[in-house]
Amino acid sequence: MSTAGKVAEDPGFRSGLEGVIVAETAISHVDGPNGRLLYRGGNSIESVVDRSYEDIVHLLLHGGFPEPQAATAFAARLAGGRPLNAAARAALEGLPCAAEPAAALRTILSAHGAARGVRAPDVPEALALTAVAPTAVAAFHRRRRGLPELEPRADLGHVANFLHLLHGEAPDPRQVRWLEAYFTVTADHALSPSTFTAQVVGSTGSDLTSAIVAAIGALKGPAHGGATTEATRMLDRVGDPANAEAFVLDLLARGGRLMGFGHREYRRYDPRARILAEVCREANPRYHAVAAAVEAVAERELAARHPDRPNLTNVDYFAGGVLSAVGIPDDEFVCVFAAARLVGWAAHVIEYVERGERIVSPASRWLGPDQEPGVRGATGRNGGFGC
Ligand code: ACO
Repeated sequence: MSTAGKVAEDPGFRSGLEGVIVAETAISHVDGPNGRLLYRGGNSIESVVDRSYEDIVHLLLHGGFPEPQAATAFAARLAGGRPLNAAARAALEGLPCAAEPAAALRTILSAHGAARGVRAPDVPEALALTAVAPTAVAAFHRRRRGLPELEPRADLGHVANFLHLLHGEAPDPRQVRWLEAYFTVTADHALSPSTFTAQVVGSTGSDLTSAIVAAIGALKGPAHGGATTEATRMLDRVGDPANAEAFVLDLLARGGRLMGFGHREYRRYDPRARILAEVCREANPRYHAVAAAVEAVAERELAARHPDRPNLTNVDYFAGGVLSAVGIPDDEFVCVFAAARLVGWAAHVIEYVERGERIVSPASRWLGPDQEPGVRGATGRNGGFGC
C-alpha cells in the first residue's frame, strides 16, 4: 500500500524520511539546492579531488590535512593495517566463488572484525577497517578467478596498493590517478542511506564492525551504491550513442528507471558526477561517448516529466566508466564504493557516539486494527522502542 496519502493525514509522517533532520554533523555537507558537497572544514569536493586518499582519510577522521611529516607517518600507519587476519582468510576460503562480491566483502570484514574483538567506535578502529577493506575486495576478486591472494605492498599508497592487490602488476600511474579521484569523491556524503544505517547501529552502543557491515548491506541496493553497476549495464545495452534517444524514450514509456539519475538531496547536477565525467572522458572515451549521449536525452525527458523535482546525473553514472578502465568488473563496483566510503561511515559513527547522542528509534504509524479481532477501533501511531 502506498504511504503517500498518509503524509497529508499526519504532518509528522515523512515518507522515506525526506527532509527530516536526524543528526548534526561537521564531517560533510550536501548542499543539494546549490549542487555543492563540502568535506570537513568546509573543503569543497573540487578543492580536494587532487589530494591523496590518505589525506582525505586524515581530514575526515581528524578534522584537517596532515602536516607533511605527519602525513608520511599517517600513511605508514594506514599501510600497517592492510593484511587480512586469520579469521578473515578463513572466511574468504569458506566462500563459494559464485557468492555476490558485496556479500563476500561483508562476510570477510565481519570475520576480520570478530577476531579483533568488540571495540567501541574510535579512530584506531576506523583506520584498521579502512586499511583492510581494499585487501578484502581484492582477495575475493582474485579468489573467484582462481588466482592466489597477493601480499600488500607497504611502499605503495592506499589506492596504488589496491590496484597491485587486484592485478598483481606495477600499477599504471594514470590508473592510480583515476581511481584515487574516485576514492576521494566517494569518501563521504553526509547522511546517505548507508551512512544513516551505520549511525543507527552505532547509536545502539554497538561496535564499528557491526555498523560497517550493516552499511555495506544498505549500500549495495540498486537505488543506492548498486546503481553504479546498473548504470553501466544500462549503457552496455545502449551500446552506441546513436541508440540513445530511442533507448531512453522506450525505457521511460515502460515506466523504467534511468540508473545513475536522481538523488534525494541534489536538485542540481551532482558535483561528484561532474568530476567523474571528466575522469571518465580521459579514462574510458567509449563509455563516455555513450553516457554523454544518453545523458542529454535523459535530462531533457526527466525534466519534462517532473519539472518540479529535477532528477539529474548522480555520482554512479560515470563511475562505472572509471572503475571499468582500471580493470574492475561491474559486479564488484559496489565493493570498491564500500572500500572508499568506509571511512565516511566510520567518521559519522564516531562523531555521533562521541557526542553522546541518543539512540535512533523513530516511530511508525500503525495500519492494523486497534482492537482485538471482532471489536471496532481506530488506528494510531506507535511509540518507538519496538523490541
Ligand atoms: N528514472 C526515471 N524516473 C525517476 C528517476 C530515474 N532515475 N528518479 C526519480 N524518478 C521519478 C520517480 O519515479 C518519481 O516519479 P513519480 O512521482 O511519477 O512516481 C519522480 O521522478 C520523483 O522522484 P524523487 O522523489 O525525486 O525520487 P526519490 O528521492 O524517491 O528517489 C532515487 C531517489 C532513489 C535516487 C531515484 O532517483 C532513483 O531510483 N534513481 C535511480 C537509481 C540511482 O541512480 N541511484 C543512485 C543514487 S546516488 C547514490 O545513492 C550513491
